Amino acid sequence: MEDRQIRERPARAEAAGRGVAVRLAGITKRFGDFVAVDDLNLDIYEGEFFSLLGPSGCGKTTTLRMIAGFEEPSQGEISVAGEQVQGVPPYRRPVNTVFQSYAIFPHLNVFDNVAFGLRRAKTPKDEVASRVADACEMVQLAGFEKRKPGMLSGGQQQRVALARALVNRPKVLLLDEPLGALDLKLRKEMQLELKSLQEEVGITFVYVTHDQEEALTMSDRIAVMNEGKVQQLAGPTTLYETPANRFVAGFIGQTNVFSGTVEAADGERTTLRTREGLRVEAVARDQASPKEGEEVHAAVRPEKVRFGGSGDNVSAAEVKQVVYLGASTQYIVELEGGGKLVLYQQNAFDATGPLEGDGVSVSWDAQNCLVLGG
Ligand SMILES: Nc1ncnc2c1ncn2[C@@H]1O[C@H](COP(=O)(O)OP(=O)(O)OP(=O)(O)O)[C@@H](O)[C@H]1O
Ligand SMILES: [Mg+2]
Repeated sequence: MEDRQIRERPARAEAAGRGVAVRLAGITKRFGDFVAVDDLNLDIYEGEFFSLLGPSGCGKTTTLRMIAGFEEPSQGEISVAGEQVQGVPPYRRPVNTVFQSYAIFPHLNVFDNVAFGLRRAKTPKDEVASRVADACEMVQLAGFEKRKPGMLSGGQQQRVALARALVNRPKVLLLDEPLGALDLKLRKEMQLELKSLQEEVGITFVYVTHDQEEALTMSDRIAVMNEGKVQQLAGPTTLYETPANRFVAGFIGQTNVFSGTVEAADGERTTLRTREGLRVEAVARDQASPKEGEEVHAAVRPEKVRFGGSGDNVSAAEVKQVVYLGASTQYIVELEGGGKLVLYQQNAFDATGPLEGDGVSVSWDAQNCLVLGG
């Protein structure tokens, strides 16, 4: 069988052999008996856009706060730019944090907000002026210096917070859901802007979000976390195309999961039988090497199932629901053998798919149906 190549945008920083900007070695954080972060090991490279992605409560903010120095790990070591930072107070670490709530001063204008830290550090006046001007330029706020935050939009206020962090020229910028308060459209614009800003300034970004689409859009690499542990660390394409386990498959995008018993396993090719009696041809990559009789899960993405066609998996089905989404249409079908399946079809040139109640045939290839580990 031909192996489908996953084409990942090269991880620029790692590929360029850049140094490690942030190293987490065996980091655990306990609050009483509760383990919020569990033995985290991560290298984040210089100039990388790195995201920590996971559901609420998985330990993202706690991890970021330990890098920033607002929280000390219970165990393990953190280094930033090659220096261990245990016991180093936040303001002496070469990092800056941007929070979801912008934490800008409402009574100060844009210039004074951005200049705040520099003035406190007794930076000479003309240097303050030129650095603030540079920072405002970077985030496209030139010309807004005299305005107070109340006279700015949400997106502009977030830019002030960014400028205030960038003006200190940190080696690493930590961002905790910085776009969380913005509406969807502005948020999408700011995602692209942040990404190009990061490429332009070359500062390492460690970005925390629970929004998978946001992480996929912006990151060079993403650590998917759950319950204090990294579930998978990879680039966006690899995460989406070859999720390591059921959690990642379900968290990144939508997916159809078949649960069943392995009937045959030959190399990577795996046949399983679901409880409903459906036979599913799948492939097991990497570490997953299922044995006959074992209970496993296999997943196929909705856009990799088609109407009609042939392939390793073909099934008669009845269309239960049709949801027109503009660029695509989502169908929910019930398979003849039992069980439901979600399909996406692009509405490229027409939108004349089947209707609710129609009898159809659906198919998908074994190589797009992945046996999931753990
Ligand atoms: N100071 C604290 N004392 C006790 N428990 C805490 C403390 N800070 C965080 N926790 C707990 O640790 C876990 C991880 O919290 P954290 O804020 O890191 O989650 P998160 O991934 O950032 O979630 P969210 O997406 O909701 O912001 C949570 O269960 C939280 O309740
Ligand atoms: Mg958080």
